[in-house]
Amino acid sequence: MPQQPTADIGLIGLAVMGENLALNIADHGFKVAVYNRTTETMRQFIDKNPNTPGGLIACETIEQLVASIKRPRKFIILVKAGPAVDAVVKQLIDAGIATDDIVVDCGNSLWTDTIRREKEYADKCKFFGSGVSGGEVGARFGPSMMPGGDPDSWKHLKTIWEAVAAKVDAKTGTPIETAQPGKPVVGGVPCTAYLGPNGAGHYVKMIHNGIEYIDMQLICEAYFLMKNLLGMKAGELGDVFHQWNEGDLDSYLIQITADILKQPDPLHKGEFLVDYVLDTAGQKGTGKWTSVNALDMGIPANSIAEAVFARCLSALKDERIEASKHLVGPKSNFSGNKQELIAAVRDALYGSKICAYAQGFQLMREAQKEYKWKLNFSEIASIWRGGCIIRARFLQKITDAYTRNPNLVNLLLDPYFNEQIQKGQANWRKIVSLAAENGIAAPAFMSALAYYDGYRAARLPANLLQAQRDYFGAHTYERTDTPRGKFFHLDWPEPTRPQLNIG
Ligand code: 6PG
Repeated sequence: MPQQPTADIGLIGLAVMGENLALNIADHGFKVAVYNRTTETMRQFIDKNPNTPGGLIACETIEQLVASIKRPRKFIILVKAGPAVDAVVKQLIDAGIATDDIVVDCGNSLWTDTIRREKEYADKCKFFGSGVSGGEVGARFGPSMMPGGDPDSWKHLKTIWEAVAAKVDAKTGTPIETAQPGKPVVGGVPCTAYLGPNGAGHYVKMIHNGIEYIDMQLICEAYFLMKNLLGMKAGELGDVFHQWNEGDLDSYLIQITADILKQPDPLHKGEFLVDYVLDTAGQKGTGKWTSVNALDMGIPANSIAEAVFARCLSALKDERIEASKHLVGPKSNFSGNKQELIAAVRDALYGSKICAYAQGFQLMREAQKEYKWKLNFSEIASIWRGGCIIRARFLQKITDAYTRNPNLVNLLLDPYFNEQIQKGQANWRKIVSLAAENGIAAPAFMSALAYYDGYRAARLPANLLQAQRDYFGAHTYERTDTPRGKFFHLDWPEPTRPQLNIG
């Protein structure tokens, strides 16, 4: 007699995220059947974790995995985004999964791939996408989870997702710290919610990552400006970030920055590790996807794109070293008040951060029109309050803003954020000027301010631009004194060349 299936869910892909998520699920009393392409990895994982509350089932083949799970079967795939996801789905199909079985891709997949996969596999299974954020620790003790796909499938996933997601306090929105192996958090509001059909979950996760890129870049610019203008050492800068973490800037990324800056170097006594880390940043592509999507939709997410370009520029290390020998600029020279400058950098960071989120939410507003999703922005901000990389006190304010006005056109127009920018903008402008005067690259601060000033401008110089287009390409223009939608073209005079009277 074949054994009755007993697992509540299956998980494929036991790299670090997969292992941690499997343990998190098992901690909540669910039985997890696990499979990995390399059986040895799966065996080691099972041997290391003999006593989880829900229990783990070792599966050496996909067929064993399929046979271990109760119907309708639920599978989590945690493999590298791209062709590997399709390869796993095909293996599952070949192993005989049923049309009502739910296959959830929890990787950082491109949302259009999720839309394509849902359609492509529709007669074989229910393909579902769920973004997961929080890195290794998040996966283990509570990530933010961004599910999107068939609403009926969500009914089967909800209990597990809500159990394993990070939890925040219902009143304050602050993350509830933190689970321990075998002892999950009890109570609190889970950082997960059904976001919409097909690719909605992966789209929202991509925007999360675009914001993550700019959030990180802004912090780096704040660090670099204080270091160069004030000559502060890493440890002292760590204290500043610790202090900032007590106020409006309170966030996971500020907290880890403080810790990183204070970390001594293991090889050089009395020195800091960060000063020995090579200044070239890698990227796996989610920030680029966000920027490409912004360009495709015509949404000015300039700061998110700047954050991607800043990583690209950082990667040109050898070229930069060579260029630094030839290209001149001002030497950093600041003789003002140190505490005032630190406060000004803080304000610049906060103002820029508001613009970064405004851009991310503007992208989601546009995408939902294109894909006919009904994204709930208050809910999205609320599930980012805990577990994910961009978790921050500030996200409660965004949750409130979209609760007050679900149709808010731009976060900058919310009274709270408008007031915050008004309070800090003189300092923000001072910092951008100081960066320019002192020759310090601060593309994220600068682009965020340009976004703010451009967005609040009733009139931009695009009148001249459109006239140029009409001049050389008959692209037409609208007039300020006629109704919108009426287009004009002028037979411009031939270009005139100035007559040079030489000799
Ligand atoms: C998260 C992170 C996670 C991963 C990034 C790193 O939310 O947990 O975003 O998904 O760390 O993809 O991205 P880069 O390699 O592009 O920096």
